[in-house]
Amino acid sequence: MSETISGKTILITGASTGIGAAVARDLAAGNTIFVHYNSSRDAAETVAADVKAAGGTAHLLKADVGRESDCAALVAEVTSRTDVLDVLINNAGGLVQRRTLADGPNWKLVDEVFRINTYSVFYLTSALVPLLTAADDPSVINITSVAIRSGAPTAIAYAAAKAAVDTFTRGAARELAPKVRVNAVAPGVIITPFHDKYTPPERIKAFVDSTPLQTTGTPQQIAHAIRFLIENRFVTGESIEVNGGMFMR
Ligand SMILES: NC(=O)c1ccc[n+]([C@@H]2O[C@H](COP(=O)([O-])OP(=O)(O)OC[C@H]3O[C@@H](n4cnc5c(N)ncnc54)[C@H](OP(=O)(O)O)[C@@H]3O)[C@@H](O)[C@H]2O)c1
Repeated sequence: MSETISGKTILITGASTGIGAAVARDLAAGNTIFVHYNSSRDAAETVAADVKAAGGTAHLLKADVGRESDCAALVAEVTSRTDVLDVLINNAGGLVQRRTLADGPNWKLVDEVFRINTYSVFYLTSALVPLLTAADDPSVINITSVAIRSGAPTAIAYAAAKAAVDTFTRGAARELAPKVRVNAVAPGVIITPFHDKYTPPERIKAFVDSTPLQTTGTPQQIAHAIRFLIENRFVTGESIEVNGGMFMR
């Protein structure tokens, strides 16, 4: 049986733009949202204002999740404001830079991609277990990517970093059961600032052409999948693919 999402305390990493911002707005009414950002302060302030306008409570948090010290400070800030965390949404992430194997090895780039997309998920989930276990039906939702299915040529490090989070999701779901549910959403091509940074229009068109539903997705469609995972108490260790059929199991 599902239930309404209300009265919950929710931390969304990367909530300043794109998917994270849409999820914050979707979950705003009646909930306390920790709106995390790194560089997009103005956008994060707008999201926080929208959360409040919708009847929620918003706390802004700044951290570079690719840095352990910033993750520790973020956890300390959350812990200073609440004893309970109902939902952790590990959404912050990025491709950092496109590069092929033939361009030559780049240890620093692979390290940075894994710190932002993978290490942060390990760190924040682990550090927040005490607050999560204090909640009634706590859950963690990790945002991975359709890239884990394709391997994402020119962004293999990103795809591999997200694949690690996919595996993390199942391991954490087993370790933290029965108290904390851990799930993932794997978006396909969703129109957000992510693609302004990393994907030229002709590449978007090629993605659409190879997608059975012949379209890109919206951040709200990812928020919809997240809402389902928060509400359904009989789902853990699952990954929901929201990709227009680009890859099917
Ligand atoms: N859009 C897609 O097609 C797509 C597909 C598959 C998966 N995803 C995943 O979905 C998630 C959200 O992406 P999006 O599409 O919404 O892109 P976006 O609009 O670029 O948002 C990325 C968010 O992550 C934050 N972030 C990036 N690097 C960070 C760092 N080092 N420390 C802290 N925060 C950081 C950004 O914060 P600031 O801007 O404040 O720095 C921003 O809030 C990401 O994990 C992405 O990999 C996206």
